[in-house]
Amino acid sequence: MPTWNPDQYLRFAKERTQPCRDLTARIEVAEPRTVIDLGCGPGNSTRVLAQRWPQAELTGLDSSPQMVETARKDFPAGHWIAADITGWSAAESSRFDVIFSNAALQWVPDHATILPRLMGLVAPGGALAVQVPYNENDPPHRAARSMAASAAWRDRFPKECVREWHVEDRSRYYDLLSPHATRIDLWETEYLHVMPDAEAIVEWYKGTGLRPYLDALFNASDQQRFMAEYLHLIRPSYPSRADGRVLFPFRRLFFVAYRE
Ligand SMILES: C[S@@+](CC[C@H](N)C(=O)[O-])C[C@H]1O[C@@H](n2cnc3c(N)ncnc32)[C@H](O)[C@@H]1O
Repeated sequence: MPTWNPDQYLRFAKERTQPCRDLTARIEVAEPRTVIDLGCGPGNSTRVLAQRWPQAELTGLDSSPQMVETARKDFPAGHWIAADITGWSAAESSRFDVIFSNAALQWVPDHATILPRLMGLVAPGGALAVQVPYNENDPPHRAARSMAASAAWRDRFPKECVREWHVEDRSRYYDLLSPHATRIDLWETEYLHVMPDAEAIVEWYKGTGLRPYLDALFNASDQQRFMAEYLHLIRPSYPSRADGRVLFPFRRLFFVAYRE
């Protein structure tokens, strides 16, 4: 389980929260009484849910105590739980009108088990709404994987030491959910984030996708060396535009599954 730093994550709060806004806007549940945000992080996604449904009873759940602490401070009205999604979904028995998860389930293994289980916790008339990154083969991910497998670094990353994201093929999500849903909306969006430079993309991934690699390296000088080499590898994929900035394409997969 990677470590999380709320401040590093929130450096790109606007860009990271936009998919959450887009997902929330597409959920066709008029007046949910209970809404849970799984992998709520520092509470940025929970806040969007509170804006859409101010009357709902909101719960945020995250396995990182630091994230939950930040969320609780910023948004004391919410109900906050520090727990793992896998264990929670196995033990939970209450139903929720909206079960929501933005940019978190990619960290949770075995979607074939977890998604039907989550659908079983959706109240009649409610929905499960999920967004996961859908860009595992983009340059930042390819670069990290190829570095970890290289002669220079592989002794620091024993086999299976680093597990990146758990994301299935998009049609597999349809197959997993369709036996449990009356209707499923699935879509993809590729965001084109405007970043000051390629260094900012490394900073972005330091807050998310690079966490498992940096955690495996333990000491700060190895981490610095890893990031310098990583920057060198990804920079050619993000050429400067006329104003010196770079475009950072980021594809995401969304689905909303409804229960009768
Ligand atoms: C990328 S952040 C997403 C935060 C927020 N939902 C958003 O929309 O920006 C992913 C969050 O998932 C949490 N997470 C990862 N694995 C988890 C698990 N197994 N159970 C609960 N939370 C988990 C992390 O602690 C982190 O706060």
